[in-house]
Amino acid sequence: VKTKRRTVVVKPPGGLYRVHFERDGIDRVGRELRQLTTGRRAVVVSDANVAALYAGRVLRSLSRARIQSALITIPPGERFKTLATVSRIYDHLLESGADRDTVVIALGGGVVGDVAGFSAATFLRGLPVIQMPTTVLAQADSSVGGKTGVDLPSGKNLVGAFHQPALVLADIKTPATLPERHVRAGFAEVVKVGMALDASLFRLLERHAEELLELDADLYSRAIAAAVRVKADVVARDERDRGPRMLLNYGHTIGHALEAAGRYRRWLHGEAVALGMAAAARLAVAVGWLPRQDLDRQEALLERFGLPLRLRRVSAEAVMAHMGLDKKARGGRPAFVLTRGVGVASVHRTLSRNQVVNALRQLGAEP
Ligand SMILES: NC(=O)c1ccc[n+]([C@@H]2O[C@H](COP(=O)([O-])OP(=O)(O)OC[C@H]3O[C@@H](n4cnc5c(N)ncnc54)[C@H](O)[C@@H]3O)[C@@H](O)[C@H]2O)c1
Ligand SMILES: [Zn+2]
Repeated sequence: VKTKRRTVVVKPPGGLYRVHFERDGIDRVGRELRQLTTGRRAVVVSDANVAALYAGRVLRSLSRARIQSALITIPPGERFKTLATVSRIYDHLLESGADRDTVVIALGGGVVGDVAGFSAATFLRGLPVIQMPTTVLAQADSSVGGKTGVDLPSGKNLVGAFHQPALVLADIKTPATLPERHVRAGFAEVVKVGMALDASLFRLLERHAEELLELDADLYSRAIAAAVRVKADVVARDERDRGPRMLLNYGHTIGHALEAAGRYRRWLHGEAVALGMAAAARLAVAVGWLPRQDLDRQEALLERFGLPLRLRRVSAEAVMAHMGLDKKARGGRPAFVLTRGVGVASVHRTLSRNQVVNALRQLGAEP
C-alpha cells in the first residue's frame, strides 16, 4: 500500500527541516536517518510509558538500517522535566559512547521532546536530534520550533536552549494509545493556533471536533499539519520569540501560572492553556477587542473538546503570584496575547492587575 504522508517544511534562519505526518512512521525512522546523515549511531530517549509501547519498533527499524543504537528510558511526567534527568541522560550518553556524530532520537510527548532536546543541544555542545512525537500535543506543537528545556523548582521552562531538530517524524497512529484526558489536552494547543492565528483551522475544528477526538486519521493529520504549518511560518520569521512567535503563547501567560499554582499536578499543560484562553478571551472582551460572539465560539469549541472552562478551589491571588515569574513578563507587567476576533491575535501591554483578577474571578476563581 502506498502510504499517505503530509509534510511541512520548516525554514528557520539556520537551515531547513521536514515534519512528516504518517501512519507507521515509527517503523521508518532507520531509513529516514540514513538519508539524513552519514552517522551510524543513534541514542533513543523515551519515557517508561512510551518505551514500553514503541521503543522496540524504533530500535528494530534502526537495526534494519544498520544503525547502532541504545535506549535511555526516563520516568514519565512533568515532574521529571528537570536538570537531574538531563544529568542522567548525559551519563547514559557517555556510557553508550556517544560522539559528535551520534543522533539523539526523542521518542515521546512534550516532556521527552523538551528534555531530550535540551540534552542534545548541550551534550558536546550539540548533537543532532530527531523528534518523534507520540502525543497530540507534541505532534501539533512542541516537537516543532526548536524550543527545548527543563523546569526549575520556581517555575516552568526556566532553563533551555533553542535547538532545531534535524527531522520531525510523527506517527499519527501513536496518539491512539494515549489516555483520553491527554488527547483532549493536546487539542487545546490546536484550538490555540486556530483562535490566535488561523480562522480556517478554527472552522475545521468546529466542523469536526468529535471525529478529531476519535483521532480519525485523515482529519487528524489535516488539523495537526495545519497547526504545524502556522507554527513553521511563525518560526521562519521569528525563531527566537521576540516578535510574531509570541502570538503562539496565546493562553499561556495565565496557563503557566495555573500550572505552577496547581504544582504541575492539578492541570495538564493543555488544560491550563484552555483555562488561560478562556481568561484571555474575557480580558479581550473587557478591553473592547473581541466581539462577544467570538468569545462564545471559543468557549463552545473548548467545551466540545472536553476542556475545562471554570476555575474552582484556586484563588486569583495565587495565580497572580505565579504570573510574575513567566519569562514573557517584562518589568513586572506581563504582555498579554489577546484576540481581536477568531484567528487574529495581538499583544496587549497595558492591562492592569485588576483586569486580570477580574477575568479570573469571572471563571470562578476565589479572591
Ligand atoms: N517545546 C515546545 O515548544 C513546547 C510546546 C508546548 C508544550 N511543551 C511542553 O510539552 C510538555 C507536555 O507535553 P505532553 O502533553 O506531550 O506530555 P508528556 O510528554 O508528559 O506525555 C503525556 C503522558 O502520556 C504518555 N504518553 C506519551 N505518548 C504516549 C502514547 N502514544 N501512548 C500512551 N501514552 C503516551 C507519557 O508517558 C505521559 O505520561 C510540557 O512540559 C510543555 O511545557 C513544549
Ligand atoms: Zn503550550
